[in-house]
Amino acid sequence: MADPTQEIFRGLEGVLVATTKISKVDGLGGVLTYRGYDIHELAAESTFEETAWLLAEGELPTPSQYAAMTRTLAAHLAMPDTVLEVLRQLPRTAHPMAIMRTAISAYGCTDTSAEEITVEAWKRVATRLVAQIGTIGAAAWRLSQGAEPIAPDPSLGYAANFLYMLHGKRPTEAAARILDIALICHADHGIPASTFSGMVVGSSLTDLYSAITAAIGSLKGPLHGGANERVLVDLDRIGSAANVPAYMREVQSKKLKVMGLGHRVYKTWDPRAIIFKKIAETRAAKDPDIARTFATAVALEKACLDAYAEKQLYPNVDYYSGIVYRSLGIDAKMFTPIFAISRMAGWTARLIEYLPNNRIFRPRGKYEGYDLRAYTPLAKRRI
Ligand SMILES: CC(C)(COP(=O)(O)OP(=O)(O)OC[C@H]1O[C@@H](n2cnc3c(N)ncnc32)[C@H](O)[C@@H]1OP(=O)(O)O)[C@@H](O)C(=O)NCCC(=O)NCCS
Repeated sequence: MADPTQEIFRGLEGVLVATTKISKVDGLGGVLTYRGYDIHELAAESTFEETAWLLAEGELPTPSQYAAMTRTLAAHLAMPDTVLEVLRQLPRTAHPMAIMRTAISAYGCTDTSAEEITVEAWKRVATRLVAQIGTIGAAAWRLSQGAEPIAPDPSLGYAANFLYMLHGKRPTEAAARILDIALICHADHGIPASTFSGMVVGSSLTDLYSAITAAIGSLKGPLHGGANERVLVDLDRIGSAANVPAYMREVQSKKLKVMGLGHRVYKTWDPRAIIFKKIAETRAAKDPDIARTFATAVALEKACLDAYAEKQLYPNVDYYSGIVYRSLGIDAKMFTPIFAISRMAGWTARLIEYLPNNRIFRPRGKYEGYDLRAYTPLAKRRI
C-alpha cells in the first residue's frame, strides 16, 4: 500500500470515518436532522421514546409499534440488583457521571450473553440500556445525596419517570414535556468524541457495554457534555448581566474558554441552542432567580457574539440547557448525566449501524522521536 499522507488532522477535524444514515449536522446552515426529520419539528411534535425508535429503526414508529415499544421500555426500566449493589459501594463524593460509567461496566458483568456480537444481540442490549440508563442516572444522584433510589414507575412516560425517580414526586405535565424535549435534542449528533470513543472500542468487536462505558467517560469531559454543568458554574460566578464585561476581560486576558460556546462543526447557531434558549426564556418569566441567570446568559452571549465574530463562535447545545434544567429543580451535577441518558439512544444506534461493516479503527502517529540507536545495558548507564 502506498504511504498515506503525512498530514495530521488535529482532533481528526474534517475526517470522515464511516457512512451513516442516522443524523446529519449541517454546520454552516445550522440544521440538524435525525433520519431526515428536522430537530425543531421533532422537538415540537415527537417524544423521546419515538425519537429513540426513529434513530434505531430508521422510521417513525406506527401507533402499534409505538405501543409495543413503550411496553418493552417499561418492562426493562428496573436495573439489575447487582448493579445497584455496586453503586451502593461507591463513595458519595463520586460524580454521577463516574457512577453511571461504573454502572454500565458492572452491568456488562451481569449479562451472560454480553459476548454475543451480532446486530440482533446488540439490539436487545440497546433496548435494555436505553430503558435503564435513566434509572441508573436517577439512582446515581440519589445515592450521591445519601438518599435511597426510587423504583421506576412504568405507568409514566420516560421523561416523567426520570423526574419522578430523581425527586420522588410525580412531575407536572409541563416539566415532563420540557425534559422530554431536552432528551429529544440530545439523542444523537453525528460522531462527536463520545460516539467516536464508543465506535473505536466497539470496532475491536468487544461487548457493547465496554463501548458505552468508554462513551460515557468521554462525554463527561468539559470540552464535550461536561460543558453544560460548567456553564452554570460560570454564570453563577458572574452573578448578573452587569458583571459580564469584567468577566469577558478576564476570559480574554487569560485566554480562557467560555463554556457552552463554539463547536467543531457549527459555524453558526446550534439549532438545539435556539430550542433551549426559547424554553429558558419562558421559564425565566416565571422565576426571578432563573430570570437573573437567563439575563446574565443573554448578556454573555451578546458579548461573545461581538468578541468572537471572526472565530464564528456561537452558543452550542450546552449554553442554555442548564438554565432549563435548573428551572426544573435539577442540580448542576445531573446536567451531563441527562445528556448521557438521552445520547444512549444515539450511541447504541450508531454502534449497531457500524457493526455489519465493521473495520477496526487504527490510525497512526507521525513519528518524531529518535532514529535507531544503540542500547546501553543498565550497569553501564551513567547516573
Ligand atoms: C467545542 C470545542 C471543544 C470545539 O473545539 P475545536 O473545534 O477544537 O476548536 P478550538 O478549541 O481549536 O478553537 C478554535 C479557536 O476558537 C477559540 N475558541 C473555541 N471555543 C471557544 C470558547 N468556548 N471560548 C473562547 N474561545 C474559544 C479557541 O481558543 C481557538 O482560538 P485560536 O485559533 O485563537 O487559538 C470548543 O469550541 C470549546 O472548547 N468550547 C467550550 C466547551 C463547550 O462548550 N463544549 C461543548 C461542545 S457541544
